[in-house]
Amino acid sequence: MSPLHVTRTLPEDATGAALRADVRHGLTAIPKTLPPKWFYDALGSELFERITGLPEYYPTRAEREILVARSGEIAAASGARTLIELGSGSSEKTRHLIDALASLEAYVPVDVSESALAQAGRALVAERPGLDVHALIADFTAPLELPATPGPRLVAFLGGTIGNLLPAERAEFLALVRSQLVPGDGLLLGTDLVKDERVLVRAYDDAAGVTAAFNKNVLAVVNRELGADFDPDAFEHVAVWDQDQEWIEMRLRSRAAQTVKVPALDLAVDFAAGEEMRTEVSAKFRRDGIGAELAAAGLELTHWWTDADDRFALSLSVVR
Ligand SMILES: C[S@@+](CC[C@H](N)C(=O)[O-])C[C@H]1O[C@@H](n2cnc3c(N)ncnc32)[C@H](O)[C@@H]1O
Repeated sequence: MSPLHVTRTLPEDATGAALRADVRHGLTAIPKTLPPKWFYDALGSELFERITGLPEYYPTRAEREILVARSGEIAAASGARTLIELGSGSSEKTRHLIDALASLEAYVPVDVSESALAQAGRALVAERPGLDVHALIADFTAPLELPATPGPRLVAFLGGTIGNLLPAERAEFLALVRSQLVPGDGLLLGTDLVKDERVLVRAYDDAAGVTAAFNKNVLAVVNRELGADFDPDAFEHVAVWDQDQEWIEMRLRSRAAQTVKVPALDLAVDFAAGEEMRTEVSAKFRRDGIGAELAAAGLELTHWWTDADDRFALSLSVVR
């Protein structure tokens, strides 16, 4: 069995320095924000996995449907010998792709969640004995220190996670991905599509309250890491569709006027009753729009696959 290689490029105190900077910036901004990557401690990663199985949360099922139907075509078009997956989480759907890529030698899952990577990595080396698995604990918005594995390389970015980046961050991210590829490499991108508002809002505000718990988990992370005294019960989970931006926003609404202390930042933050803090955007896409964003980064969209209900798309792009 090939060993599991785990490399950490995030500093040990990544949930220290970077979190401190993000929280200080976000809690002193108007309106207040917290970036979504801090949802994913061990509990957050577990809650996200539960979300993927919820009846209201169609994206995972729709993307899996495409992977099941199209992995053979993706494999033929890419011929990848290395698969790099950004924000890989449980790598659950990726197995369809791994199985279809006949020439695959190495799999490089990249995630900030050490617990998700370790669990997925251990399972994969046991299930796919011939595959080299190099797990990278890293932030995909920064240049990656990739292991020396054979090309061509296919970068997969699934789950619609690209929608969590704001438009300017997305442009920067796509340019960064392009800069790490060479001709012959490709990008397989999962994008959730614009659709009926009710379907979208339900997907981010499920009846069982799992998404609410996921959203509030960011408060627990800030409490634990920065000694803050957020009371999760004093905030309400909110999901709204922004028609102009074509994105879902997850917010936390303060139930009453309150002051939250963040000792590690020497900060006291006032919330007015009803004030909302943005914790995630999840942009929804159209083919022309994402094609243009890819082109602006030097990537040419060559394939576009959707599920039978046109809810979600997987696209393959190559270096121009
Ligand atoms: C929406 S989940 C998707 C997980 C999986 N790809 C799927 O399709 O089910 C986003 C994943 O990206 C990871 N993540 C979020 N921001 C990240 C960042 N800046 N760098 C690396 N990983 C990140 C999270 O830990 C999580 O596993």
